[in-house]
Amino acid sequence: MLFEHDLSRCFSDAIGESGIDRSAFEPVLAQTADSLAELREVRQKAGLPLLELPAARDDLIQPAAVAERLRRSSDQVILLGTGGSSLGGQTLAALAESPFGPRHGRPKLHFLDNIDPVTFEALLAQLDLSRTGFLVVSKSGGTAETLMQFLTLYPEVERRLGRSGAAERFAVITEPHANPLRRIAQRRGIEILDHDPGVGGRYSALSLVGLLPAMIAGLDTVAIRQGAADVLQRALTDDPAESQPAMGAAMNVALLWQKSLRTTVVMPYIDALASFGLWFRQLWAESLGKDGTGSTPIRAMGTVDQHSQLQLYLAGPQDKFYTLIMCPQAGKGPRVAPALAEDQALAYLAGRSMGDLLEAEQRATLETLAANGRPVRAINLPRLDERAMGALMMHFMLETIIAADLLGVNPFDQPAVEEGKRLAREHLAEMAGRG
Ligand code: PA5
Repeated sequence: MLFEHDLSRCFSDAIGESGIDRSAFEPVLAQTADSLAELREVRQKAGLPLLELPAARDDLIQPAAVAERLRRSSDQVILLGTGGSSLGGQTLAALAESPFGPRHGRPKLHFLDNIDPVTFEALLAQLDLSRTGFLVVSKSGGTAETLMQFLTLYPEVERRLGRSGAAERFAVITEPHANPLRRIAQRRGIEILDHDPGVGGRYSALSLVGLLPAMIAGLDTVAIRQGAADVLQRALTDDPAESQPAMGAAMNVALLWQKSLRTTVVMPYIDALASFGLWFRQLWAESLGKDGTGSTPIRAMGTVDQHSQLQLYLAGPQDKFYTLIMCPQAGKGPRVAPALAEDQALAYLAGRSMGDLLEAEQRATLETLAANGRPVRAINLPRLDERAMGALMMHFMLETIIAADLLGVNPFDQPAVEEGKRLAREHLAEMAGRG
């Protein structure tokens, strides 16, 4: 078992009337049977490429060669891309990289998903471009932010290294049809990897979009896919009660419909999952926030947000569903030397490891939330590795798709965002007109 999915503290028999009655949960869960049947059918017909990814292997050959090329020539690799083209890679790479540096022999990955000119000027001033690789990711090949990043960085690299030297430093991932990014890459001799048109940006973490950065960081990408395959295998059963993603989706939606809980907080107690919270936030928000429905995802971090958000979570408005993601921590990490903790007030820390404290705090938060009548799900990972990460990602993608089905929205589009993109282009054109 790659993780335990515990919804017991969401029911009224555990937390009182703010929880869901088991009898009222059943009909919502029963509705997910249709979604599961549809997913099984689609999978049988190989109709949803996301569900094909866990078993695929051939598509990893070209990314592995590109990862090796960039790894050999670079001390750092910069990923240019935004939203779903960046967050999956960020989430996976965080498994390998500590905040203090990359794995031994691996380049440091930087994900530049914004377009702040100050950041870019600092990058150009500080990085040794002759030892920097660039991965440009855009499914559409037309996202203004990513194109702005690429079009401003590339000339500088070409100026310093020449055209073929610059091409050696770059790789592009984009869809296999004519688009602006693809055309520029072709003209410049930059290697292009095809983004599967059937895999949406925020569902692309298990495709080469997430796995190429993961390879550069030194992760076992087959294990990531194996974890996803394990979840997929068990999730699409006839019996929704046996399907953890169906249970999770039904609980989210039951809490929304029956208790008006419009916010869902995901709070890992593991630093390596800090980006996972951001990835989940985009997945949930962009997939479900349509037609006036959906719930607002919040990414929190334990223990940090115990000192920032927990007061609100425990005693503020009763409008949130909590998911705590935890690993066993007892005994891990450095210990407090008893001699240094001789002060009576510090006796509780003497001889304790950092993991002991983290273990105690994550358990305390789980129990306190439940004791205050706050519905809280516990996801317990025996260990966090590539396989567990692949499993978690597949779980939350399926949970999102099933929740979308319950809510009657399409999880794969983002019509409102497209409108904003169109307006931004118009404003830019107006600026050009004004000179
Ligand atoms: O999930 C999505 O579809 C979006 O967040 C996209 O990933 C994001 O807008 C970037 O799009 P593109 O990959 O086309 O540059």
